[in-house]
Amino acid sequence: MTYTQLSTKHLLGIKYITLEDIELIFKTALEFKDVINRPIKKVPSLRDITIANVFFENSTRTRISFELAERRLSADVVNFAASSSSVSKGETLLDTVNNILAMKVDMVVMRHQAPGAHHFLSKHIDANIINAGDGTHEHPTQALLDAFSIQEKLGTVAGKKVVIVGDILHSRVALSNIFCLNKLGAEVMVCGPATLIPKYITSLGVRVEHDIKKALKWCDVANVLRIQLERQDIRYIPSLREYALYYGINKQLLQDIDKDIVIMHPGPINRGVELTSDVADSGQSIILDQVENGVAIRMAVLYLLAGKRSS
Ligand code: CP
Repeated sequence: MTYTQLSTKHLLGIKYITLEDIELIFKTALEFKDVINRPIKKVPSLRDITIANVFFENSTRTRISFELAERRLSADVVNFAASSSSVSKGETLLDTVNNILAMKVDMVVMRHQAPGAHHFLSKHIDANIINAGDGTHEHPTQALLDAFSIQEKLGTVAGKKVVIVGDILHSRVALSNIFCLNKLGAEVMVCGPATLIPKYITSLGVRVEHDIKKALKWCDVANVLRIQLERQDIRYIPSLREYALYYGINKQLLQDIDKDIVIMHPGPINRGVELTSDVADSGQSIILDQVENGVAIRMAVLYLLAGKRSS
């Protein structure tokens, strides 16, 4: 059966979409990747649509990537940063978003520090909502672009062994990746110090490994996460130096495992902590491919959700 529509009008998380949704997003992203590699990178698909990018947390890649995706689809775009808004005067999330929507906005791309903020909004507003990261919960477009990049590099995701390394406890990227990779049929492992791996994680069908060398020997792909310095409310690790010593991936470690694995990182990288520069910038790394694919994936998500506006 060929699917031409998503099963949902919002993208709240990978948990809430189907394998068919993911496959349709990938197929559409492939077409948009062609478009953005042409001399004229714009298509008129969202010409009558207005999109608000509402960011309550900092972002470089996701915010710019969404804005580029929106402009390449010819949408009208408004940007909102909480730090320079009336949120600082005590306005609630719902009031803020309702005021933006009163200006005839059709879609809201939001990053918010509270897990579940997007679910809450989806029950109260009519616009399509796209989760650009909600606290430690989900970051669905990151997982989609990660899996799409694996498929592009290795031909398929099904059957591949992917280890997610690092701060799993605080990572929305980890959770969305686990949901996405499981749906696509990959084998998933998480690796890191015990304090940064939540106890429930095995219930999601993933393996746990604390020895980075064993994890790298096992995998085809290592998706290496950032140590979230801003969320270390207690000392989960003795120091960054010690973390780098036990879990940092360097050239020597890759030579020792004697296997050509793919290195990924969602960014921003703490260079010298999770990855040394000679690994981050090596031929094994597809970090900049991930960023490039992010625009095509976000174009696909916006385009397909816009198609659900009248349903
Ligand atoms: N990968 C990612 O979400 O990066 P930003 O925080 O810069 O958007």
